[in-house]
Amino acid sequence: MLRAALCAVFLLGALPSLAKESRGHVSVVLLGATGDLAKKYLWEGLFHLYLDQVSSGHSFTFHGAALTAHEPGQSLMFEVLKKLACPSDVSPDRCAVVKDQFLKLSRYHQLKTSDNYTALNREIETLLQQEGLEEAGRIFYFSVPPFAYAEIARHINGSCRPGPGAWLRVVLEKPFGHDLKSAQQLAIELRTFFREEEMYRVDHYLGKQAVAHILPFRDQNRRFLDPIWNRHHVERVEIVLKETLDAKGRTSFYEQYGVIRDVLQNHLTEVLMYLAMELPANISSTEDVLRRKLQTFKALQGPESTSAVLGQYQAYASQVREELQKAQDYVSTTPTFAGVLIQLDSLRWEGVPFLLTSGKALDERVGYVRVLFKNRAYCTQRESLREAGQSQCGAKQIIFYIGHGELSCPAVLISRNLFKPIMPEGSWKEVADRPQLRLFGLPLSDYYVYSPVKEREAYSVLISSIFHGRKDSFITTENLLASWEFWTPLLDSLTQQVPRLYPGGLENQHLLDFEMVGRELSFTLEEPVELLHMDGQKPGDYRTIQAKFRQSPLVSAWPEELIARLASDIETAAAEAVARCGEFHLALSGGSSPIVMFRRLVTHHYGFPWRHTHLWLVDERCVPLADPESNFRSLHDHLLQHIRVPYLNIHPMPVHLNRRLCVEEDRGPELYAKEIAALVNNASLDFVLLGLGSDGHTASLFPRSSSGLEGAQTVVLTESPVKPHQRMSLSLPLINKARQVAVLVMGKGKHEITTQMSRVGQEPRKWPISGVNPSSGQLVWYMDYDALLG
Ligand SMILES: *[C@@H]1O[C@H](CO)[C@@H](O)[C@H](O)[C@H]1NC(C)=O
Ligand SMILES: *[C@@H]1O[C@H](CO)[C@@H](O)[C@H](O)[C@H]1NC(C)=O
Ligand SMILES: *[C@@H]1O[C@H](CO)[C@@H](O)[C@H](O)[C@H]1NC(C)=O
Ligand SMILES: *[C@@H]1O[C@H](CO)[C@@H](O)[C@H](O)[C@H]1NC(C)=O
Repeated sequence: MLRAALCAVFLLGALPSLAKESRGHVSVVLLGATGDLAKKYLWEGLFHLYLDQVSSGHSFTFHGAALTAHEPGQSLMFEVLKKLACPSDVSPDRCAVVKDQFLKLSRYHQLKTSDNYTALNREIETLLQQEGLEEAGRIFYFSVPPFAYAEIARHINGSCRPGPGAWLRVVLEKPFGHDLKSAQQLAIELRTFFREEEMYRVDHYLGKQAVAHILPFRDQNRRFLDPIWNRHHVERVEIVLKETLDAKGRTSFYEQYGVIRDVLQNHLTEVLMYLAMELPANISSTEDVLRRKLQTFKALQGPESTSAVLGQYQAYASQVREELQKAQDYVSTTPTFAGVLIQLDSLRWEGVPFLLTSGKALDERVGYVRVLFKNRAYCTQRESLREAGQSQCGAKQIIFYIGHGELSCPAVLISRNLFKPIMPEGSWKEVADRPQLRLFGLPLSDYYVYSPVKEREAYSVLISSIFHGRKDSFITTENLLASWEFWTPLLDSLTQQVPRLYPGGLENQHLLDFEMVGRELSFTLEEPVELLHMDGQKPGDYRTIQAKFRQSPLVSAWPEELIARLASDIETAAAEAVARCGEFHLALSGGSSPIVMFRRLVTHHYGFPWRHTHLWLVDERCVPLADPESNFRSLHDHLLQHIRVPYLNIHPMPVHLNRRLCVEEDRGPELYAKEIAALVNNASLDFVLLGLGSDGHTASLFPRSSSGLEGAQTVVLTESPVKPHQRMSLSLPLINKARQVAVLVMGKGKHEITTQMSRVGQEPRKWPISGVNPSSGQLVWYMDYDALLG
C-alpha cells in the first residue's frame, strides 16, 4: 500500500515533463547515492545533465540507491538534492523551476536484495507503460567500493536490463584493481555481466577541462605542432598533481595503495597518453583514439626501480598506527610522494623524459602538464631591451594548467615565442594579463593564456559524455590492463625501497627536488640525518675488509662500495691492458648484479678506454638478442647504449643462426671460439666477470652436467635447470686462461652457497664455481656483507 502511494505521488509529480513528445526515456540509477562522491559531485553532475537535456525531448527519472533502509536513506539523499546549485549562466528563476522538476523526478531506493532489484525494474517498466514512453536506455552509476561490484553487476544483468532496442550503460569508479592480476580478475568478472561497450570506467581526470582539451589542441594546431612535437624539439614533459592534504582519515585505503596506484597509474598515465599518442586523422573517432592510445601503451619502456624517487610525509606512520591500530613499531613503506621517469620506445619520443610526479602534504595544490621545448637560441641584445614575449631566448613551453595553484583556474598557456594557437571560439577565451604573476619562469605576459568560457566540473563533463555514449574519455578494459602491465613490475620492485621522509607543507623546502641522470632519478639533496629512520647505523661506517676466500683475495663491503671498487679495478685492468698491447678484452656475465656495475661504469668512469675495449659475453640464453631475457640485450640497455665502443669490438654470442636458436648443426660455439682465437692473444681474456648462482653455478655451467667443465672446447652449449633452458657459455678451461677473473656475489640469497663454498674443495661437477681457478691469472672475490655474513 505504502509503496503504491509513493509511486503515485512520484508519477504525478513527474507528469509535466514526462508527458511531452518523447525521444525516449532515460532512467539513471546512482548506486551509493548518499556516499561522499555522490554528495560532492555526482548529484550535481546529474542535475547539470538534466538542465542541459530538459528540452532535448528525452525524459528522465533519477533513482538514488544505497543499502540503507528507505528511512533514513531517503532523507539523507534529499538533503543533498535540496542543496544543488545551477551554474552561474542559468537564471535564478529557471534554476528554481528545473530544480523543482529534478527533485520530483528523483527518488530513493534501498537496493540490497535481488527482490529490491526486481522491484526497481518493475517500477521502471510500469512507469514506461503508464506514460506510454519508449525506453532510450538506463545508466547505472557504481559509486560503491569495488568489492561490491560483482554482486551488483549480477543483479543488474539478472533483472534490470532494459528491453530490446534500449541501451545499458554502467559506470564504474576506480580503483580498478590493485595490480595486473587483480585488475584482470575484476575484468573477467565484469565481462560475464556486461558487454565491453556497456562499461564506462571513469578516470575523472579525463573530464578536467584542460586535460580534455589536449587532443583537440593538438588537432587544431597541427600546423604548428607537427614539426616540433617530437624528440628533436621537446626537451622534457612534466605531468604533475600536487596536493596539500594528507591521507589522514583515509589511511585504510591509502596504506594498501600509495601514491603510484592512487594517482600515477591512472590519472597521470592517462594524461601521458594524450600527450604522447600519435594523433589519429580524425580525433572525433573514438575507435581511432582508443587504438592509438593502446599503441602508445605498448611503446612505454618498463621503468626500473632506479627511475623512481619515493617519499613519505613524516606524520603518515603515526596516522597509520592510530587509524589501523598497528603496534608502535609498525613501519610503513607506502609512498605518499613519487617522481617517476618514463621513456617511450618510439621514433617520436625516444630519449625524451616524461616526468610523472604526485604527492600529499606538499607546499601547494596544483595540477599541470608542462611541455618544455629545447631552446638553441642565443640573444645578443641585452635583456632589458628585448620586447616581452618576442625574444627567442625565453623559455619555450606549452602548459595545460589543470587547476588550482596560483592561476586557480583551468588554462592553456603557450609561450609567445612559439606560436599563437588556434583555440575553439565560444568555449575558450583569451585571458587578460595578471602582470604580477610569474609561472614556470616567465611572466604571464610572455604567454598566450586561454581559459574556458564556462568552467565545468569534471564529473559534469563525464556524465554528459556517458549520456551521449561517447567513450573516448573512459578507460577500456584493454587500456586498463595495459596500464597495469606497465606499472605492476615497477610497483613490485619498489616494495623494498624505503621512502624518504619529508616534514610536509612549506617545510619540505628542497627536500623533494629530484634530478635526472641518464635514465635514473635521484633526490638532489642528501637525506638529512635527523630524518633518517635507520637507528644510527650507516653503511659507510664500515671499511672495506680485505681478506681471503678459498685461498683467493676477497673484497667485501656494503653493496655500493663494493660496486665502486669493482668498477675501479676493471678500469685499472683496462688501462694496463691498453698500455701493454693496445686493447682490452672484457667478458661480462648476465644477471642483475653486473647491471649495477655497468651503471657505475657509465656514471663514474669517463676516462675508461672504451674505444680500445672488446666486449665478450661469458654466457647467453638461447633467445633472440632483442628478447628481454637476453644477456646481450641487458648489456645493450645498461651499458652499450651509454658508451662509445666501436661496433666491431662488440661480440654477442651467436645463439641465433639460420633463424633458429642454438641448434648444434649451426655450430654457434665453434664460431664464437674461432672469433676469440682470432682476436684474443693466446685466447687469454684480460678480465672475466662471473657471478655465482645459489646452486653453485657460474657462467652457464650448471651442477650435474659435465658440459664445459674440461676438455678442449672453449665455448659450449649447456642446459639450465630453469627457463630458458638452453644456454651458450664459455668453458672453465677458457675462463681459467684469463688474466683476471672476478666473481661478484651480492645479496642475502647467496649467503648459504658462499658459506658452503668456503668449506668445500674443488668439485666442479657438484659446484662449477669451485672449478674457477685461473692457471696463470688472478681470481678475486667481490662479496657484499649480506652474501658473506648473511
Ligand atoms: C528489499 O528487499 C528486502 C528483502 O526482500 C525487503 O525486506 C525490503 O523491504 C526491500 N526494501 C524495499 C525498500 O523494498
Ligand atoms: C547476462 O545474463 C544472461 C542471463 O540472464 C546471460 O546469458 C548473459 O551471458 C549475461 N551477460 C551478459 C554480458 O549479457
Ligand atoms: C570523424 O569521426 C566521426 C565519428 O566517427 C564521424 O562522425 C565524422 O564524420 C568523421 N569525420 C571525418 C572527416 O571523417
Ligand atoms: C698462452 O697460454 C698458456 C696457458 O694457457 C701459457 O702457458 C702461455 O705462456 C701463454 N702464452 C703467451 C704468449 O702468453
